Amino acid sequence: MLSALENVSRETFIFYLESGKGIISSERVCVLGKIIAVTNQKGGVGKTTTNINLSACVAEQGKRVLTIDVDPQGNTSSGLGIDKKAVPYSVYDMIIGECSARDAIMRTNFENLDILPANMDLAGAEIELVATNARETVLKRCLDDLRMDYDFIFIDCPPSLGLLTLNALTASDTLLIPIQCEYYALEGVGQLMNTMKIVKQRLNPAIEIEGVVLTMLDGRTNLSLQVMQEVKKHFQGKVFLSFIPRNVRLGEAPSHGLPINIYDSRSAGAEAYRALAAEFLAANKESL
Ligand SMILES: Nc1ncnc2c1ncn2[C@@H]1O[C@H](COP(=O)(O)OP(=O)(O)O)[C@@H](O)[C@H]1O
Ligand SMILES: [Mg+2]
Repeated sequence: MLSALENVSRETFIFYLESGKGIISSERVCVLGKIIAVTNQKGGVGKTTTNINLSACVAEQGKRVLTIDVDPQGNTSSGLGIDKKAVPYSVYDMIIGECSARDAIMRTNFENLDILPANMDLAGAEIELVATNARETVLKRCLDDLRMDYDFIFIDCPPSLGLLTLNALTASDTLLIPIQCEYYALEGVGQLMNTMKIVKQRLNPAIEIEGVVLTMLDGRTNLSLQVMQEVKKHFQGKVFLSFIPRNVRLGEAPSHGLPINIYDSRSAGAEAYRALAAEFLAANKESL
């Protein structure tokens, strides 16, 4: 990150200072890594698939990426080849103060991509957090001094709006919302937007929507196209142009512990997530 600063314009410096996204140390301005929560309280909509593959495709472009598994199911961890049961420390240990974020971070087998893994232990954290001081800001405080080590930090959220998700929203700069192209696609999205509003008012005034990603799109069906129109109408200007088609290779890749760009680099799934990464990076040019 420091090396990137030489090319940062004065306007960008000031923008970061004013928006609270930068800090000054030894008279240098350090632009902090952006934190993005991949979230939607509905299960099975493609959060984990998007988190794994967008993280991997952004890392493939040479950006330093950390992906954080905040789902007790630990599917981001296993999908990136981590043996969940054998990790020395996990997000749970970090949240309960047993270790620092740096202690829990692991290298993946993929260049520029680190992970903070999770396993079933994390299921207990929802309950333990209830009794914690400033319980919504625990994750944010854990990540504060990590930001400068990465260009982007993606958080895979669990399928609920409980304390873990609240912690993720409080720690994040933006939300990336995968929406599956199916009946009732927008069901529950109102609740998520309401939660975001409360977080914005009380805990994290700077939070914004990064964008909505349409997932598991079947371009041949009228239903998919109808859902696409409906989502675009609802989230005007916030829907990524790149969408993710239904693609069997995307379903297979996690059982091999590989992101799609490595598992089948030429599949439609890999192409779609590469296009999403390019669109994401173009929109975030000034963050780098
Ligand atoms: N574009 C896609 N094409 C085919 N299968 C997909 C696609 N996206 C996700 N899946 C599969 O759908 C299931 C749910 O996706 P997942 O990413 O785990 O959702 P979530 O994290 O929101 O619960 C998984 O089995 C996953 O492999
Ligand atoms: Mg998931």
